[in-house]
Amino acid sequence: MNFASRMSRTSVSPTLKVAAEADRLRRQGVDVVDLGAGEPDFGTPEHVKAAAKAALDANFTKYTASAGVLELRDAVAQRYRLDYGVDLKPEEVIITAGAKQALYNTAMVLFEAGDEVITHAPYWPTIVDQIKIADATPVIVHTHMEDGFKIHPRAIIDAITPKTKAIIINSPCNPTGALISEADMIAIADAAAARGIWIIADVTYEKLVYDVASSNLIGILFERMRNRTVICSAASKAYAMTGWRLGWAIGPKEMIAQCNVLQGHATSNINSITQKAGIAALTGPQDDVATMLNEYRKRRDAVHAWLTADSRFVCVKPGGAFYLFPYIADLLSPTGIKSSGEFAEALLKEVAVAVTPGEGFDSPGFFRLSYATSTERLKEGVTRINAFVQKLESSGKLTAAR
Ligand SMILES: Cc1ncc(COP(=O)(O)O)c(C=O)c1O
Repeated sequence: MNFASRMSRTSVSPTLKVAAEADRLRRQGVDVVDLGAGEPDFGTPEHVKAAAKAALDANFTKYTASAGVLELRDAVAQRYRLDYGVDLKPEEVIITAGAKQALYNTAMVLFEAGDEVITHAPYWPTIVDQIKIADATPVIVHTHMEDGFKIHPRAIIDAITPKTKAIIINSPCNPTGALISEADMIAIADAAAARGIWIIADVTYEKLVYDVASSNLIGILFERMRNRTVICSAASKAYAMTGWRLGWAIGPKEMIAQCNVLQGHATSNINSITQKAGIAALTGPQDDVATMLNEYRKRRDAVHAWLTADSRFVCVKPGGAFYLFPYIADLLSPTGIKSSGEFAEALLKEVAVAVTPGEGFDSPGFFRLSYATSTERLKEGVTRINAFVQKLESSGKLTAAR
């Protein structure tokens, strides 16, 4: 069939692909340990659900302003004022269907054919696919496990050309969990500001930072280049609200107005009930966020220790998000399981553990394991991974331990 050429530049999100396969097995009655999902296993906080129920009972079920109700845009502004000390107005905020639509609006409003957009790998694939869908060219700067997937400003700045329209920074990063430091953000922001380049910060995991006492990327960007900064984020991960579809883009009011023109022709407002829930999430008590963060930290420490007990799983302990990104190239064998893609496929088929292969993040040799699941299931998952590795080792399909 003759589809538009832009469709040949994109493909199914690999994370959604794993989720679909795990789901298929589950429906067949298989007990799948799902370490592929990029979503919290916690329930949405009770006061947030209560606000949604109240909205429903009050028949708050009609169209709203396409950019979201003023009270919610104000709630986002207030949250960022409290968290980062930035002064924001509602007209600098648009409410979107998750961070995904915030990033999509931004790509469509800013990028076009001939533009280059720099980002860093390993990356969340949607970032790069959206650049391509917008007809622009992604320029990928690789980060490396050896230094904790640190983003080196020099490498980003060296990738700048006269065609560079924007730099997309994802921190905490999916899939590595790496954080950009304030000093590195400053160096990149100053280089971008001097050249009129936009910075788009995908901070979807902003509430899931484990060890850094104070890091104010948003404050830095606002202070140094507010007129070319776009912040994309969501309630999805912080408030365990992935299915509600609540995100936002924050940027200069002229740019946000353009996003609203686009969104007005695409989806209009997000679900009205979700908007009321969002106000409760952002303005209500934040204790649930802290509780979930503490639990994720415990799981990160536990699963990292279990996995790296086998020294062939080399794995950075991440500073944020809820993923481990182990390197398994030393396990692979040219005559058996040759790639992390094959490893993930066999793992799901043989022991029903779902992980996402590194190929999807432009990083063959790795896989992504989500620890947004109970400690019990994590333990079961790692036990099955170890049994799987041992079995394949003895049959010569993986490289044996030295
Ligand atoms: C880095 C990153 N950005 C954005 C998103 C999109 O989040 P949402 O579900 O709010 O659209 C995700 C989701 O996994 C992500 O990992």
